Amino acid sequence: MRKLKVAELFAGVGGFRLGLENTKMNKFEVTWANQWEPGKKVQHAFDCYSTRFDTGIHVNEDIAEVSDKEMADTSADLIVGGFPCQDYSVARSLNGELGISGKKGVLFWQITRFIQNTVPKYVLLENVDRLLKSPSKQRGRDFAVMLSTLNELGYDVEWRVINAAEYGNAQRRRRVFIFAYRRNMAYGKAMSDVSPKSLIYKEGMFAKAFPVEGEPFKNREAETSISSDIVEVSDNFSFEFYNTGIMRNGGITTIHTVPVSEEATPLKEIIEANYDEKYIVEGAKLDKFKYLRGQKREERTAKNGHKYFYTEGGMSETDDLNLPGRTMLTSEGSVNRSTHLLKTDDNYRTLTPVEAERLNGFPDNWTDTMPERTRYFCMGNALVVPLVTRMGNEIERIDIEYPENITQIELL
Ligand SMILES: C[S@@+](CC[C@H](N)C(=O)[O-])C[C@H]1O[C@@H](n2cnc3c(N)ncnc32)[C@H](O)[C@@H]1O
Repeated sequence: MRKLKVAELFAGVGGFRLGLENTKMNKFEVTWANQWEPGKKVQHAFDCYSTRFDTGIHVNEDIAEVSDKEMADTSADLIVGGFPCQDYSVARSLNGELGISGKKGVLFWQITRFIQNTVPKYVLLENVDRLLKSPSKQRGRDFAVMLSTLNELGYDVEWRVINAAEYGNAQRRRRVFIFAYRRNMAYGKAMSDVSPKSLIYKEGMFAKAFPVEGEPFKNREAETSISSDIVEVSDNFSFEFYNTGIMRNGGITTIHTVPVSEEATPLKEIIEANYDEKYIVEGAKLDKFKYLRGQKREERTAKNGHKYFYTEGGMSETDDLNLPGRTMLTSEGSVNRSTHLLKTDDNYRTLTPVEAERLNGFPDNWTDTMPERTRYFCMGNALVVPLVTRMGNEIERIDIEYPENITQIELL
């Protein structure tokens, strides 16, 4: 069976790769990966990636420094990557990418460059769900710029916000996944005959991998179209994108869908029975945690001397072991309101690094190549691996059900 060559961008410690290497048909082969943590001398995530995976080319360089030729040489069929939510606004320019120029350092433009150089069949991206609403002053603009760009490059797009716990996992982690496929391939052509609702509820990649109920939440559904002029989109577009949607040829349908929920994995099922004493929290550190998690109404003074009341709602004293974990952030290894605090065997304690890995469905000790604090940081950056496996299974099915009878060259 011909494998699908995968280029993994912003690879971190390899969540996408792990997910894709667990699929039913074993059809994916990550042949090229890029990971570079800006401003860090020691590249812990890259070192972990290179220790854990021994095939393919691994590049530890700012993606902006990777040449067009190196990108083209990957001949990727699928590009995957989790990238930051940044400001995607663009202005007109005479010689910039696509005749436009975006802000410097915005990583989405590197993804665009990768797509232009490789013309892959599929693209699978992950981002925080806030992307759909950013920026707050022009809601939906950034996502629309992204859709408009993919449209111009010849791709149709499906997106879906997925809360990992609602599909059986141990963490309430909500992320938007974006699946783009070439419009002029057999699959793109076949999908163009399917109605938008049918794609969203039944036929699309996300609908098959993560089933949803057949009715929208609170009748929330909407349609619009985006201009092929990306600068026009950047300047004027504002729209409320719901958690699910498709964009085909610039036409957008979005629906607030409701997942057909699967029972989440509670924390008690992933915690370690034996843990080192250093994870036990007591004394002043425990008081600090209790304060941070508690309800607050305190008078504070701003820099200009203005006095105000700071209020914050309380959280439960410790995380409920009968529920899945909350969203893990990169600060998980520090004393922080968002850090998990457990009570097991009458001890208050934090998560062990292995438990942090389990919240994301990584194998135990995957990140033990690096210092502990960095292990939590990398897990805060990573994704929930079994979600990617489910998407990978569907992409494999698509690739087999819709074989290409034209060559990649003819597609270009
Ligand atoms: C959201 S994380 C992705 C994590 C990954 N999906 C995983 O499972 O570990 C984004 C990654 O992009 C990397 N990164 C940030 N800027 C970069 C750049 N300019 N070039 C290459 N990688 C970059 C970060 O170091 C980080 O590991």
